[in-house]
Amino acid sequence: MAGSARRPQGVVTRGTTNPNRLRRVDNWIVDACGDALRTAEDPLVVDLGYGATPVTAVELRARLAAAVRADVRVVGLEIDPVRVAAAQPAADPPWLAFARGGFELAGLRPALVRAFNVLRQYDEGEVAGAWATMTGALAPGGRLVEGTCDELGRLGAWVLLDADGPRSLTLAAKLATLEGPAQFAERLPKALIHRNVPGEPVHALLTALGAAWRSAAPFAPYGPRQRWLRTVTAVREAGWPVLDRPADWRHGRLTLPWDAVAPR
Ligand SMILES: C[S@@+](CC[C@H](N)C(=O)[O-])C[C@H]1O[C@@H](n2cnc3c(N)ncnc32)[C@H](O)[C@@H]1O
Repeated sequence: MAGSARRPQGVVTRGTTNPNRLRRVDNWIVDACGDALRTAEDPLVVDLGYGATPVTAVELRARLAAAVRADVRVVGLEIDPVRVAAAQPAADPPWLAFARGGFELAGLRPALVRAFNVLRQYDEGEVAGAWATMTGALAPGGRLVEGTCDELGRLGAWVLLDADGPRSLTLAAKLATLEGPAQFAERLPKALIHRNVPGEPVHALLTALGAAWRSAAPFAPYGPRQRWLRTVTAVREAGWPVLDRPADWRHGRLTLPWDAVAPR
């Protein structure tokens, strides 16, 4: 149960957060994980590392309740007890609660975990262990969404994992402000951010996206959405195993199987 005597696993890091910062990943969670949450025996969701204010946990509960199921319960877990205390006025039991916890998830068995902008401040070598600890605590069939975004949430990237490990990588951008796919480099999840170097698959992906984006420049007058659609179509035609559909691309997203981008 939340608040168990076990020592929370992890360390306190910077608490930067912002209203609406995580809407892009939340919308993707609704689309990609909504069915799993709808059929989950216990619709419990953990927001791990919500930061200095609980605003993104409040938003996650509201979005999932509106779009997936009204009885979803969100528990925001923070390793910093000061932030746990500060979040209590936003609690709305039993739908939204805040407790102290780390990668072990405080003894909870959630159907879904969102851990955003948490691992970014850890060493790359700590990622595999953190992933294993979190996925090991999931309910059967549960999922973990772990990723990174910029401060306003215009640019993000995340990994979907289940008990068997990482399944996919998603890149997502607000297309109106996207200058080019190279911008994703600084927002890659911790497992990939140091792998954007020649010889690594994620470097090849960003290089292919950059070339396709430049070739799609004639589409720019039709708007960034048309240019992005053309870009994704081109990398798919070049052999990248794109998982999602044009409807997703229109939202500025691109999802690939983890195997296609995993570090060598
Ligand atoms: C940059 S904030 C992210 C806030 C919010 N998730 C967002 O994306 O806007 C990172 C937070 O994660 C917390 N944190 C770091 N490691 C953690 C762990 N192992 N378990 C729980 N919280 C952790 C930090 O204390 C910090 O408040």
